[in-house]
Amino acid sequence: MVACGTSYHAALLGAYLFEKVCRIPTRVKISSEFNHCDMVLNKTWVLGITQSGETTDTLRALQKAKGLGCSTTAITNVHGSSVTRIADQVFYTYSGPEIGVAATKTFLTKLTTLYLLALSFVPTSVLDIKDYRRLIEELKFLPSKVQRVLDNEEVIARYGKELSRYDNAFYVGRGINYPVAMEGALKLKEISYIHAEAYAAGELKHGPFALLRANTPVVAITARDDTYQPMLTSIREIKARGPQVIALAEEGDRDIDPFVNSVALQLLAYYAAKERGCSIDLPANLAKSVTVP
Ligand code: G6P
Repeated sequence: MVACGTSYHAALLGAYLFEKVCRIPTRVKISSEFNHCDMVLNKTWVLGITQSGETTDTLRALQKAKGLGCSTTAITNVHGSSVTRIADQVFYTYSGPEIGVAATKTFLTKLTTLYLLALSFVPTSVLDIKDYRRLIEELKFLPSKVQRVLDNEEVIARYGKELSRYDNAFYVGRGINYPVAMEGALKLKEISYIHAEAYAAGELKHGPFALLRANTPVVAITARDDTYQPMLTSIREIKARGPQVIALAEEGDRDIDPFVNSVALQLLAYYAAKERGCSIDLPANLAKSVTVP
């Protein structure tokens, strides 16, 4: 998969699903980096993920993949965009136009598309029909689960305001919540101008511990899966070094957590930016689609 920015984070989550659910070995490259390296691409299917369909780095990456004989697919939100003229196959995300520069709803629809795509490939030897149906059913509950996050807006707003007082923050997660943390940090950076760095929680001890102080809050994304206990250990280790920890925890089922967590993190960034008086839809120095390499 090749993509930039928020689409890159959607790709990381997609790759996680492709490997976990369909057992298809999947790699993700930032489009510009794909263009600078010589990946081994034997019988490789290359997916370009781009909301706008106009990001030059991703267009070039797909062109390069095509030139190397790969089959290419685009996931995009914009009908007739440039990417649709390059890729062999196109999946639309049908989000409607996204006005804000920082991608939000299109991130969720890219995830939904990747989720459905992963399920469409899953061999019956890996997932039986009962589990398959359960995963589809979970997706149907997504709107009501997102609504519950929105119903909790006041609590998130309180933490967003708290976050707005700082100049630096860390976002940490494990497993599928690591890319969720990356996307959460990107949202905060983009719209509130707070320096935010995402780390795999287990990697903090290999350097970033040196930066953990009382003036550096840490947003920790937890899930009730095999990462839960290690995350609790990470949170304890972080707290022992002084930072305030804002933990995002799940209430219910786990399979669509990344979607729901992402909405909570989008709101967190929104309220931090609002408190700082930032121009949320039009952040400084950013463009909705980047048409230069
Ligand atoms: C720009 C936007 C980002 C977006 C990235 C990729 O940098 O500011 O919000 O994630 O482009 O956009 P794409 O349209 O390719 O998904």
